[in-house]
Amino acid sequence: MEVVIVPDAETGGRFVAEGIARLVGLKPDALLGVATGSTPLPVYRALAALVSGGEADLSRVRIAQLDEYVGLPARHPESYRSVLAREVLEPLGLGPEAFLGPDTTAADLPAACRAYEQALAAAGGVDLQLLGIGGDGHIGFNEPCSSLASRTRIKTLTERTRGDNARFFGGDVEQVPRHVVTQGVGTILEARHVVLLATGAGKAEALAAAVEGPLAARCPASALQLHPHVTVVADEAAASRLDLADYFRHVLAGKPAWQALRPFGPSDGAHGSRARPGDGHGRSGTGSRVSIMSSDRDPSASSKAPTVRKPFFS
Ligand code: GLP
Repeated sequence: MEVVIVPDAETGGRFVAEGIARLVGLKPDALLGVATGSTPLPVYRALAALVSGGEADLSRVRIAQLDEYVGLPARHPESYRSVLAREVLEPLGLGPEAFLGPDTTAADLPAACRAYEQALAAAGGVDLQLLGIGGDGHIGFNEPCSSLASRTRIKTLTERTRGDNARFFGGDVEQVPRHVVTQGVGTILEARHVVLLATGAGKAEALAAAVEGPLAARCPASALQLHPHVTVVADEAAASRLDLADYFRHVLAGKPAWQALRPFGPSDGAHGSRARPGDGHGRSGTGSRVSIMSSDRDPSASSKAPTVRKPFFS
């Protein structure tokens, strides 16, 4: 697991967007797994800026939905289908044909879940899955104690998640659906590369459990420890509970050229075959253009002294 600590959400968004643009440069019809919520929005904004500035051509990418509410009409403004149309498809100039998602209005939901799994496989599998993390450690809508081998299925939300998401429903938790369809943890683990984004102090505890805690269904995001190609991008606040934060900074600061940060390499292998350890690393190339600054403090400086910042890659 590669952990990249960024000064703020916007820098993280640009870093991930430039990585996605690089992946799409290598595989123009890449299948991108996209998440909803507030966290990935800087990525989508940065991607749109790259496209409108002529720096990236995403015209052939396809996007795959991670999860969806059950019980909302597809056209409801807060259905994740609507959110992704608004935040991803339209800004990137993509049409509805570029979208893959489960039909959560189907009468037979288990069949719709199976059909979505088949559609993902038929599309060649997800090349890069973008994830946020719930305050309770969920990924997608895989709430605590979800099977770590689960596939796309119906889940019941915790009241905490409903409360967290009430802000999208005018603050009225009663408007937040109780049931959802989500890619399973096992489904997510089949993506060739997983990028987990976490921003803000509210995610610090969940992120520490995911990255450093035991592998446990209690924290579904900890299942990412099993995946050989995960990049965690966290801002300082979200990284604040990581015991190994200084080590992660040290690793990135000291990467020799042959081990350069190359998290967005070309996807290879058939759908279902996991990325191999080392995929995306050690290949020649220029790496991200976003200069991310470490925030290691000079140990001789007082706690009130300005943070000593030095670029660890550019
Ligand atoms: C929702 C979504 C998740 C998302 C999480 C965090 O429940 N289903 O995919 O990662 O919330 O959302 P936010 O980024 O708004 O904190």
